[in-house]
Amino acid sequence: MFQQVQTAPPDSILGLNEAFRNDPNPEKINLSVGVYKDEKGVTPVLKCVKEAEKRLLESESTKSYLPIDGRAGYNESVRELMFGTEHEVLAANRAVTVQTPGGTGALRVAGDFLADSFKGRALWHSQPTWPNHPNIFTAAGIPLKTYPYFDKATNGLDFTGMMEALRQAPKGDIILLHGCCHNPTGIDPTPEQWKEIGDLVQEKELLPLLDFAYQGFGDGLKEDAAGLREIARPGQEMLICSSFSKNFGLYNERVGALTAVAADEASAAAVLSQLKKVIRSNYSNPPTHGAAVVETVLADTGLNAMWEEELAHMRDRINGIRKLFVDKISASGIDQDFSFIQKQKGMFSFSGLNQMQVDQLRNEMSIYIVGSGRINVAGISEANVDRLCEGIKKVLS
Ligand code: LMR
Repeated sequence: MFQQVQTAPPDSILGLNEAFRNDPNPEKINLSVGVYKDEKGVTPVLKCVKEAEKRLLESESTKSYLPIDGRAGYNESVRELMFGTEHEVLAANRAVTVQTPGGTGALRVAGDFLADSFKGRALWHSQPTWPNHPNIFTAAGIPLKTYPYFDKATNGLDFTGMMEALRQAPKGDIILLHGCCHNPTGIDPTPEQWKEIGDLVQEKELLPLLDFAYQGFGDGLKEDAAGLREIARPGQEMLICSSFSKNFGLYNERVGALTAVAADEASAAAVLSQLKKVIRSNYSNPPTHGAAVVETVLADTGLNAMWEEELAHMRDRINGIRKLFVDKISASGIDQDFSFIQKQKGMFSFSGLNQMQVDQLRNEMSIYIVGSGRINVAGISEANVDRLCEGIKKVLS
């Protein structure tokens, strides 16, 4: 039977990572998958995480199953981190959260819930978006539509195009937005634009689904939640998919959450029951460790302060690297203006390199970046930036 099975193409991001691992070139550079690296090229375990793990090791008394929706304390901290403690959504008890295996798990639970409860509604995603978004929602059986996002001429947001397209969306359609640090472009709406998006969503009765995987990597924890808080107006419904892979460096622990904000407490409870039904038939209940770490850090003033400092350090390093990269590019004699890279937010830079140039970088210099031209800025260091600029100069000439 298996002889009929066709080989699937490698994943456009994780497949590159595999190819990088198999590349024998000692000077190879990996700027593909969105993983933070420090000055030495290492993805560190945060100190606050190590400390929380020590405490957990001593205090853990059981390995029994978690509830279907995961750890109650973790779910509560996730909501507070997004909304702050005083927000109307929390006071009205109209948000429910389920712990999920990573942000991808949250997106898939959201997809299955939407496909089940709102059959036929389309999901609109930005063009471009994270390549796994279409994979996840197609697998869940949701029809996809796109809205323009990137303006090539300005290397900025095509806000007019985006709003024109979203105005065409019928009532009840799902609008996928990146809460901050848009992946892959690194371009986010301004606070005024978020307000317009909030007005449109409310007026047209659309359902916003926010992918919120980089809180703290843009301008700060609170600042990065500003768009989300703008959308969460009284009575507004929304879904939010959180990930703690990047801001806690807990990539391989798969720590995420799906939060559903309903119009009132009773409908929030009904949504929770549906989310639990989806989870039970999928992976039954989530693993505990990563979420216990996040919960421990967020609940302890000292560990929380340590985390915020470590997160600020990661953010500052990435911003420093953006500047270094832009300076080195202009010093290397490349005519093209790359200064826009300094305006982009988060881990990624949308370089403007095309697929042919990306392939040439990989084949001739073992420099790995994603086909869309997306560069993981966090993978650039003092040690590899010159070689990277040399490669870019070569493919541009
Ligand atoms: C990325 O975009 O590189 C990350 O979100 C990792 C992934 O799973 O693709």
